[in-house]
Formats: sequence, C-alpha cells, structure tokens
Amino acid sequence: MAAPPLAAACTQAPAGGDFPLPDRPAVPHAEAAWAAFRAWGSPRFHVAPMVDASELPFRLLCRRYGAAAAYTPMLHSRLFLEDERYRAEHFTTCEADRPLFVQFCANDPDTLLAAARVAEPHCDAIDLNLGCPQHIARRGRYGAYLMDELPLVERLVRTLASGLRVPVSVKIRIFPELAHTLAYAHMLEAAGASIVAVHGRTRDQKKSHTVRADWDAIRAVKRALSVPVLANGNVRTLADAEACLAYTGCDGVLSAESLLADPALFWRRRGEPGGAWVPLDAPALLLEYLDLVDRHPVPNRMVRAHAFKILGAWLAEHVDLRNELHRGRADPASVRTLALTLRERIAASGRAAPVPVLTERARLRLEAEAARADAIAEQEREGLLLARLQAKRAAGAIAAAPPVGAGGLLETEAGLVAVQS
Ligand SMILES: Cc1cc2nc3c(=O)[nH]c(=O)nc-3n(C[C@H](O)[C@H](O)[C@H](O)COP(=O)(O)O)c2cc1C
Repeated sequence: MAAPPLAAACTQAPAGGDFPLPDRPAVPHAEAAWAAFRAWGSPRFHVAPMVDASELPFRLLCRRYGAAAAYTPMLHSRLFLEDERYRAEHFTTCEADRPLFVQFCANDPDTLLAAARVAEPHCDAIDLNLGCPQHIARRGRYGAYLMDELPLVERLVRTLASGLRVPVSVKIRIFPELAHTLAYAHMLEAAGASIVAVHGRTRDQKKSHTVRADWDAIRAVKRALSVPVLANGNVRTLADAEACLAYTGCDGVLSAESLLADPALFWRRRGEPGGAWVPLDAPALLLEYLDLVDRHPVPNRMVRAHAFKILGAWLAEHVDLRNELHRGRADPASVRTLALTLRERIAASGRAAPVPVLTERARLRLEAEAARADAIAEQEREGLLLARLQAKRAAGAIAAAPPVGAGGLLETEAGLVAVQS
C-alpha cells in the first residue's frame, strides 16, 4: 500500500507552530484501507494496547466476550528486533488471535520497518504508538513526545506504509487546539495511515480518570478523514461504547482500563433486553483467563495484575486473599486455588456484589494508579534492557542489527513465539 505524497500543508508543521487545515485531500489508499477493515468484519469493539496487560490470553478472553479486534501491548521496535528474549516474552499469538494490531514505539524509521516486517506475517495491521505520555517515553523519544517532531512522525508512517503489505495504523492523542489535531490527522493519513485511533485526551492529560475524553475532537477527526477512525476514552460499559460510536460516528471504539476490570465489557448478550443476563462472575472470568494462560503461558506478574483487576472490590472484602495474591508467587496454579476459594465464599455469602468499602470513584482511582504503576515499571524494565543491549553492542558482543526480514516465529504449545533466525 504505497503512501500518497505528503499533504504540503503539514510537512513542516512543528508542534505549537502553524497548523493550516488543508482542504479534504484525495486519499488514494482509502479504498484499500476500507477493504481491509471490511475483510476483518468491520470490527467495532477493540481491546486497546496495554503494556503488560493486553497479552495473548487476555486478548483471547476479551475476544470470547465481544471484542472484535485487539492490539498487542506496545513493543519497543529496537528491542523487538534485537533481543530474542524480549520478543519471546512480549509477543505471542495464535490462530484465534485475529484481527490483530501489533503496536510498536519507535523513533527510527528503518528499525521500525525491520521490526514490523518480523511481525507482519502474524498480524493484520502494524500500529505506531503516538500516544504514550509517560516520562519514559520522553526519555526514549517516542509515543506522544513525537508530537513535537512531526516531520519524523511523517517519515515513520511513510516508511512503514511503503514497506509493508499489511495496513498501517496509528494511535494518537489530541492537541489542545482542534485545528492542530485535524492537521495532524490529515498528515498521518496522507503519509499512509490506513486506520487512525484517537484517544481524546492531550499529552498532558495523563490521569484519564480525572479528565473526560473529548468526544467532540474525536468526532471532528472522524469527519475530516477518509480512512476508518477509532475512538478511545471514556468507554467504561457497553452502553458507553454504543454512545461513543453514535456520537462520534467512528468505526470502532477501544477500551483499556475498564476492560481490565471487566473483560466481558463488550459482551452484547449481557443484560440486553431479550438477551441472556449474565451476572459478572469475577472468579469465573479469572478461571477462564487462567485456562488460557495454561495454554499460552505468560509471566506471573501479568497473571497477578489481571487477578487484582478482575477480582477488584471482592479483594477489598477478602483481605486475606488480597494479601496472599500480593505476597505469593502468583503462578497460575496458586491463583486458581485463590479464585476457587473466593468463588466458594461468594456463593456462601449469597451476594452478587462485594460490600463497597471505597466509593466507586476512589476504587477506580486506585485501580488506575496501580495499572499505571505496572505499565511504567514494565517500560522501565525495557529501558534497562535497552541500556544493557547498548553496552553489549559498545563492547562488540553483539553484531549489527539483523537485516530486514530476519527472524521469525515458531509455533509452540504456547502459540507463536518470536525467534531470531
Ligand atoms: C495498564 C495500561 C497500559 C497501557 N499501555 C498502552 C500501550 O502499550 N500503548 C498505548 O498506545 N496505550 C496504552 N495505554 C493507554 C490505553 O490504550 C488507552 O489509550 C487509555 O487507557 C485510555 O483508554 P481508557 O479510557 O479506555 O482506559 C495503557 C493503559 C493502561 C491502563
């Protein structure tokens, strides 16, 4: 899918500079973008990318309950390309895991393309993270901090779009000024982006629970672009998802934090008039997740984090189990025992919901803080790995980066596992 020439109005526009809004430009690749989107069944409900949390078994669980597409966690393009262990731990997939967006962060077009080419045969789209607002992204020069380097963003997208067979998507945050957001979106589309996911918050609005996402800005982007547009932010229930689609006119929605607490959030049959009512049975969902982990193993830290999120307020009531989860190894077998114990206790209590000990707002705030801390810890681990890699390279222990197309994936019982050739 070759990218059209860059819309002249946006090429030189630095952040905070002049952002003239071009007329709606011709987008030669729009037809192909729509054809790909339709071939995936025009997915409306998406599992958002989440570091250490939108891993294979969690994606599969959400897909069972209404998610029609999913993103991998953000993968560091250079680590993915050069560090075999990083790849094996962070990227697994399987046949049922489609349509799949593999998300990378990057600031070097050639490295990004080389990493994307390794993942390309095993996914449906390659996504570029332009939304990460954490300090680690500032240090690493990626994510939302590339909003200060639009010519580089343009090169990253154009390089991907002209070098891959699968469509390129981007996940962006908005600028404080709508005109800037629209010019940015036009630039991305003109550079070859086939899908644009818009998180309706600015780079400075890091605490998503304190700031409502701006659905008006998302709606304006949807109206301005010719390729499919996805909305992100403030989707906490299925009703929110439907409302967001109706209000913004977007082609799909992403959910992140709320999906962690309720992986069945997108399940239409839950409580729908005439549909089966399925009460949220948190231990049952966790047990289902653990079955998937048995087939597609992931590190215990991910199991622990999902157990905390899915069991949520039940753990505030059963403090002994919470402490056990906190202090134990959190291997799938012991988390299974814990979930079964909790299920028995819930059945004996005769209640469908835990006794609230915190206000809903306070609980959401605490959960969001914990999730963010986990994500930052993971990104810091990546920073360390990268530093180690650089040190080895400097000492001559590692040869130059493998050529584009090197490496591949092995089919194992755990799914497809990345390997270096
Ligand atoms: C634990 C966690 C990890 C995240 N990791 C990523 C990521 O890897 N890539 C990304 O683009 N966004 C990431 N995000 C942001 C979400 O994808 C999403 O844009 C944001 O949470 C807003 O959506 P929400 O209101 O549904 O939570 C992460 C969010 C959370 C809570």
